[in-house]
Amino acid sequence: MTDKQMTSLTIRRPDDWHLHLRDGAMLQAVLPETTRHFARAIIMPNLVPPVVTSADAVGYRDRINAALPDGAVFEPLMTLYLTEDTDPDDVAAAHAAGIATAVKLYPAGATTNSASGVRDFDKVRPVLDRMAEIGMPLCVHGEVTSSNIDIFDREAVFIDKILKPIRKKNPDLRVVMEHVTTEDAVDYVRDNHKNLAATITTHHLIINRNHILAGGIKPHYYCLPVAKREQHRIALVQAAISGDKRFFLGTDSAPHTDPAKLQTCGCAGIFSAPNTMSCLAEVFDVAGALKKLEAFTSLNGPNFYKLPANEQTLTLTKGDPVTYPAQIDTGDGPVTVFDPGFPLHWHVST
Ligand code: DOR
Ligand code: ZN
Repeated sequence: MTDKQMTSLTIRRPDDWHLHLRDGAMLQAVLPETTRHFARAIIMPNLVPPVVTSADAVGYRDRINAALPDGAVFEPLMTLYLTEDTDPDDVAAAHAAGIATAVKLYPAGATTNSASGVRDFDKVRPVLDRMAEIGMPLCVHGEVTSSNIDIFDREAVFIDKILKPIRKKNPDLRVVMEHVTTEDAVDYVRDNHKNLAATITTHHLIINRNHILAGGIKPHYYCLPVAKREQHRIALVQAAISGDKRFFLGTDSAPHTDPAKLQTCGCAGIFSAPNTMSCLAEVFDVAGALKKLEAFTSLNGPNFYKLPANEQTLTLTKGDPVTYPAQIDTGDGPVTVFDPGFPLHWHVST
């Protein structure tokens, strides 16, 4: 059967290799949206204050586990927020104890709650050296922050000015370029075979910058890195459907309440946890590549993180359009769910 003829697909249960769960009432409301379909997720540490130390990560992991819906089988894989004061010994101890899976690098000012991120990359060299020694991955928000660099160029400039020098000084460091948005990033990963991988979000496979700006401004499509022109979206789809082990799903599902998004200076972030698997099945179906979906959502990520793929499965069935709620209610206010802008035909059952 060709991929286009398929109407049903059973895959190993997926993992989300880049997820924002927040804390408190928001955590309580959004966590079930992820645990419904996903077995594990790399949890972003950009809380206020951020998850910096191994003790912070233990506390946050406990709060996530306490918020799990009844019967959910889900493992949060914690990350530590890299600051210029991060202690290499604390990072190594957290990794050895299974408390932290990775460290997250935010250039200071790059995105939501990144003020404690890195300004001077030389200051974090001892941490990066130690991580390379112990094989602990660095998850990178790859955008420069200088106001003189155009926002649509910030990822490509980051690769040249920051990432290449870091990897040259430290070729043994295992790096995940998070939420890549450009052909430049896809090419960079493809050309560098050692210790490098990239996550791709659901929304960057679906929207380009016209979706945000043409015909009226759409705050719910605003995220960072901002979606780029169509040529880049196509490069991301090609990478995702290629089966190449270095590309895997990280939704970057990032809930903000509607009042926080819909204001003069609205927050960056797209909440895609509820409908991500239906959206991805649609994208892979249209591309005639359904048989590659499992690699992207369920195999390539565990392979890079040196973890076993999940044994449980998830079944996708094609039928009449499936609808998801436009919003979910949280104790902090309503959160709008990502609208792919086309009907979704793939129903998910576990
Ligand atoms: O759009 C984004 N939202 N990009 C990020 O890097 C952070 C995230 C958030 O935390 O809201
Ligand atoms: Zn993120």
